[in-house]
Amino acid sequence: MPSLFDPLALGPITLNNRIVMAPMTRSRNDDEGCPTAIMADYYGQRASAGLILSEATYVSPAAKGYSRIPGLHSQAQVEAWRRVVAAVHARGGKIFAQLFHTGRVAVPQLLPAGAQPVAPSAIAIKGKNYTDFGPIDYVVPRALESDEIPGVAAEFGAAAKNALAAGFDGVELHAASGYLVHQFLDPTINTRTDAYGGSVANRIRFLLEALDSMIAATGRARVGIKISPRIKFNDVIEPDAEEVYPALARELSSRGIAYLHVAQQGAYEAHKHLRPLFKGVYFAGAGFDQASGEAMLTNGGADAIVFGKLYVSNPDLVRRFREGLALAEGDSKTHYSKGPEGYVDYPEA
Ligand SMILES: Cc1cc2nc3c(=O)[nH]c(=O)nc-3n(C[C@H](O)[C@H](O)[C@H](O)COP(=O)(O)O)c2cc1C
Repeated sequence: MPSLFDPLALGPITLNNRIVMAPMTRSRNDDEGCPTAIMADYYGQRASAGLILSEATYVSPAAKGYSRIPGLHSQAQVEAWRRVVAAVHARGGKIFAQLFHTGRVAVPQLLPAGAQPVAPSAIAIKGKNYTDFGPIDYVVPRALESDEIPGVAAEFGAAAKNALAAGFDGVELHAASGYLVHQFLDPTINTRTDAYGGSVANRIRFLLEALDSMIAATGRARVGIKISPRIKFNDVIEPDAEEVYPALARELSSRGIAYLHVAQQGAYEAHKHLRPLFKGVYFAGAGFDQASGEAMLTNGGADAIVFGKLYVSNPDLVRRFREGLALAEGDSKTHYSKGPEGYVDYPEA
């Protein structure tokens, strides 16, 4: 069985090891959704990971849902991302762009003038979005019209094409954490009665349309997907996760995509149920350390392990694991703050 330090073939590319850096929003982009210069340093510092997954990146102006997150719908964003990708490639790393639409997590202040957040159904999230304009109550979103949904799915394909133009090695569909794609899966969030709601097959339809538009743009071998069944975030409940996710895993398996990335963060034994159903590369994430990650690979429970918070404070995580060096503690206060502090100033061991 492989170890964390063995290479892994992923479609047309080969990862140097099986240590994957999790997608993490770090809020250092400019207000136009363009990555800034320090982001090239940040991602470049972490290029010894077998694969870096970028922070969640919005596919269209209407998809933005937080202050200072990046987009991939404009030429300026493509150019700005090019510098980040080049910094990773210059140090021998690989990087996929994680693509998302925030749906009902957005607030109007972050969207183009006059736009309302959209969602499968007109059901608001409880709580507030902490923007640069202050904390803003979530609003009741506008339910997407049936005939506009294929157009939203197509935005994922357009952004995937832009990702390749920026030099990314591939793209990841963000179907986790209660954002738009995930909102369609959950019957407590999606109460539609058209072809996108009701049965399990209908609720996974939007996800598959978005994924297929990405596959059409980049080829199946450069597309992965992240899911987080029953995550306790953004009011996700998923009472029927036991039906939804096996059906989804079978659909994903038949598409021959690059990988399935599963963050097991909720009350559903995702790895146990989904790994056997997906005949392809399987990434397991959430809560792993070196020992539990090695054990997961040794047991055949996954092909690669995704590390999130450890990568905030350990840019050279691969070497620290390999040489048994101490790990640095991160500071969550600077996860989403501005500037270099708590971002590019965690030193190598
Ligand atoms: C600061 C921070 C930002 C995150 N942003 C994203 C994101 O943009 N996309 C995503 O899919 N998950 C995001 N996550 C979740 C991580 O990808 C990962 O699933 C989670 O941290 C659990 O893994 P860990 O225990 O190794 O940290 C974020 C997590 C953190 C700590």
